[in-house]
Amino acid sequence: ESLAGHLPTRLKGLDEALCGGIPFGVLTELVGPSGIGKTQFCLKLSLLASLPANFGGLDGQVIYIDVESKFSSKRLIEIGMKSFPEIFHKKGMAQEMAGRILILRPTSLSEFAESLHQIKISLIHQHVKLLIIDSMAALVLGEYDCGASRQQALGCHVSFIKSLAEFSRIPVVVTNQVRSQIGDEPLMYSFQAQNHSRKKDNHAAYDSHLVAALGINWAHAVTIRLVLEAKSGQRFIKLAKSPISPPLAFPFNITSSGVVL
Ligand code: GTP
Repeated sequence: ESLAGHLPTRLKGLDEALCGGIPFGVLTELVGPSGIGKTQFCLKLSLLASLPANFGGLDGQVIYIDVESKFSSKRLIEIGMKSFPEIFHKKGMAQEMAGRILILRPTSLSEFAESLHQIKISLIHQHVKLLIIDSMAALVLGEYDCGASRQQALGCHVSFIKSLAEFSRIPVVVTNQVRSQIGDEPLMYSFQAQNHSRKKDNHAAYDSHLVAALGINWAHAVTIRLVLEAKSGQRFIKLAKSPISPPLAFPFNITSSGVVL
């Protein structure tokens, strides 16, 4: 499905499991509870897509749909300065790198739909190498309280986003916040066999929550699902859905250099 290539995350185990990184041409979903690091992960991917090719980047532009105004160019530059000082400490380069990321802040689903059509045009004419939507659920949940109409409205957008990924052959990364529906427990999966029953429960909670919020079309449209979660103070990123890999999990941290293993 991803013959066109990958955007490496530079999280070693994850890149190996993904056969090189976030695949081009399909939807990759990042899900997890509030504060787990979804936006931080998106900042890192934006940076990696915009880096010059001799630093292993895609040397491209990024379209970043920032629904909740969480994007921070200051933080992006901080991550760049720490991770790629050779580039970011050169005069004017930090601004140039940040300038490669086009931020869109739609305030409604209809504005979002309009921006998708503009995006389609820029995908043809510009050097866009990554599309991020942070977050889809926020966009959709902000607009409707009725599940049926929300899912109807979403259905066509989902197909359109998927077609954007396919026709432009770029990675499309979408975040979604989830909460466990089992009491107030934070959403977390266990990777240990002895906790197998809880793991199953949380999977069910996750699925029903997302389906309730975004509809079954959404769940099926996503090719790669990465679940971010915390367990005993340690953050994990788990490859929860993949056509090629078993559900592996990798510990990660968030430092001044961004998301690191
Ligand atoms: P929601 O948007 O609420 O769903 O959360 P999210 O999953 O997008 O979380 P986000 O990526 O915003 O991560 C927030 C976490 O990242 C914070 O709890 C901090 O631990 C960490 N973080 C954010 N900014 C910084 C920073 O500038 N430096 C460091 N070291 N950590 C940061």
